[in-house]
Amino acid sequence: MKDKLNLKRGVIYETIISTYSPDDTPNSAPIGIKYLGEGRVQARIYKGSQTLNNILSRRCAVANLTSDPILFYLTALKRGKHPPVEYSKSENVDAPRIREVDGHIELELVDSRQGSEYATLNFKVKAIYLAPGISRIYCRAPHALVEATIHATRIKMLLAKNRFREAERLIRLVNHYKDVIERVSPKTEYANAIREIEKKIGEWRKGRGLGQDPCKTTCMSNRYERGSWQSRRKSRSSHR
Ligand SMILES: Cc1cc2nc3c(=O)[nH]c(=O)nc-3n(C[C@H](O)[C@H](O)[C@H](O)COP(=O)(O)O)c2cc1C
Repeated sequence: MKDKLNLKRGVIYETIISTYSPDDTPNSAPIGIKYLGEGRVQARIYKGSQTLNNILSRRCAVANLTSDPILFYLTALKRGKHPPVEYSKSENVDAPRIREVDGHIELELVDSRQGSEYATLNFKVKAIYLAPGISRIYCRAPHALVEATIHATRIKMLLAKNRFREAERLIRLVNHYKDVIERVSPKTEYANAIREIEKKIGEWRKGRGLGQDPCKTTCMSNRYERGSWQSRRKSRSSHR
């Protein structure tokens, strides 16, 4: 089952963690879990969240697997008192599981470490259940790579047309996606690909006489834009 999910060591997967609150009502919230290898996963959970309190009290949780963005949204932002999800009992742990998701990973808490803002929790995987035909677990990296690639194609075109300010805005977004990929999916094909994109953007910039430093690009684009604004003003006054 674990092989079917093809979990990669060091990669953070986005799941929805379901737990029981002290009054036995089910609670769920999106939480990233990092696969550590050998049936272990780690989560970093902010202090003060219901999920953290519930896990520390019952020492277990279920990671529900889904790629439904609405389910992430509803369970993160708690629209209504209880998000409209249905639960059933788990097989091996004292935590509920969400019905109608792609799969479940039942988790037993091994140890926890308190930081100033969040706690780091290590779990043992007790069992994995997958819906037939499902072999994927949501990870931000491939989506971030698609977004960065879309922007990269635009950046190339914008730089070629000297539209530096628009290019810069997209370069900043690509840098953001690079940060995301390197954090959630280090040493993977996605991390290699985003580095290639960064390299290409550097080459395109160089080709337009711009430095590698985005600040230099900003100064450059200001100069260009000031120049074009001044020349527009000049040409307007010369019409008078
Ligand atoms: C995709 C996604 C991933 C998230 N990952 C985490 C995480 O790893 N750790 C965390 O503390 N919060 C994470 N959050 C935020 C929590 O889900 C959010 O704060 C939630 O409201 C906590 O609910 P609770 O108080 O019922 O536990 C994530 C949110 C989203 C949308």
